[in-house]
This record gives sequence, structure tokens and C-alpha cells, in this order.
Amino acid sequence: MIDSAETARPPYDDAAAWHALAALRGPYLPWSPGAMRPAGLVTLLNDVWFGGPALIVELGSGVSTIVLARLLAELGTGHLLAVEHDEAWSARVQRQLDREGLAELVTVLYAPLRPNRRSWDGCQWYDEDALMAALDAAALDAVPIDVLLVDGPPAWQPGAEHSRYPALGMLANRLAPGARIVLDDVERAGEQAVLLRWQQEHGLDFEVRPAAGLALASWPGA
Ligand SMILES: C[S@@+](CC[C@H](N)C(=O)[O-])C[C@H]1O[C@@H](n2cnc3c(N)ncnc32)[C@H](O)[C@@H]1O
Repeated sequence: MIDSAETARPPYDDAAAWHALAALRGPYLPWSPGAMRPAGLVTLLNDVWFGGPALIVELGSGVSTIVLARLLAELGTGHLLAVEHDEAWSARVQRQLDREGLAELVTVLYAPLRPNRRSWDGCQWYDEDALMAALDAAALDAVPIDVLLVDGPPAWQPGAEHSRYPALGMLANRLAPGARIVLDDVERAGEQAVLLRWQQEHGLDFEVRPAAGLALASWPGA
């Protein structure tokens, strides 16, 4: 069953999250409805703070990339691979990382969307060769993924609702035992369907946080 942790305790909301994010203050960032909501981002940052991950993989870059990099800089450990299908957006994210002196902590990978062998409904996913090559590159070689954030490809358009489904199948053999899996936008029917399939196919037990807009699970084997 997908469990909602907020039935047991009050939700941690966006207003409270803004206060927590003030500790990672930096230059202005273009928060938009496409970005993770503050409560979701803080939920993720808390996981990173407690877990001290060596490698985070983020599918869908943006404000979350910059704020995660700010936290890694503060912690002095960990690397982020940010996968982005939009070349112009990936360049913007890279420029911001450069401006803030965070580029060494993040690999921004431009990976255009392509047909995928694990697709649901024919939705495209990130270029497999580009993604696997990045994971095999010298700096990331043999480092398993400790945190997988699935916030892309965009899945709001009709017909693209199941775009994020390939993520787990494609990256399962790269995940560390006990790796944290985070899916954003779980208020949408498409993401809820993806969660159910992941749960059935991989035996995961997702905790849904409605006020944060995301769901989390631990990969088995820890
Ligand atoms: C759901 S968003 C990913 C958001 C990202 N994880 C964040 O929290 O900021 C999916 C895609 O939308 C695009 N995108 C994200 N933020 C954007 C913005 N502020 N303006 C334009 N496009 C954006 C990027 O191509 C991104 O991969």
C-alpha cells in the first residue's frame, strides 16, 4: 500500500519550508510552478543532510539543482548528476552553477528525449547512451546512486502522463542498497499510476507526503 505519513502528524508546509531554505540563501533563483515546491525541496534536503549521499541523480533540473548544490557545498561531500532534456535550460542551470562557484559539485548532463525500450504509452525518456556514459565517466565510475530524484521528463501534457515511468527500470542496477527514491508531483493521476507500478514491480513501499507533493521510498538491500 502507498502510505500517507501525514495522516499521523501535521504536514510540513511551504511557509515553514521557506524559513528552512533561508539557510541556503544565495543569488536570486527563478522559482516557478515547474520547480519543486519548497516543502518538497526541504523534504529532499533533509534526506540528503541525514544520509550524506556520495551520488545524487536528478532527472529534471532547475532551482532544485542549485539548492541541492548549495547544500552539498555546505556539507563538503557528495556529487550531483543533473539530467536535463532541454539544451537551453541545461546551459542556464550550468551558468548559474558557474556563477555561484558550484560547478565542481554538479555534472549537468544534456540528454535529449528519445524513444525508450521501457516506455509506458510510448512516452520518450532521456537518451540512454548519454545517461549511461555519464554514469560511467571517470568521476562517477562505480559510484552507486544514493538518491534518485525523479522530477522529469515533463509529464503534464496529455499523452505524456507516464513519461517518468522508465526511471526505475533504467537505473535499478545503478542504485545503492537503501538508496532513496523520490518522485515529485504525486498529486497528479499520472504520477500516482507510476508509483503503483513501481511498487508492484519493485516491491517498494512509498510514503506519500501530500503537503510536500512527493513520495519517498528506500531501495531494498540496506
Ligand atoms: C518539473 S521541471 C524540473 C524542476 C526542477 N527539478 C526544479 O525543482 O526546479 C521539468 C522540466 O521543466 C523545465 N524547467 C524547470 N524549471 C523551469 C523554469 N523555471 N522555466 C522554464 N523551464 C523550466 C526543465 O526542462 C525541467 O527539466
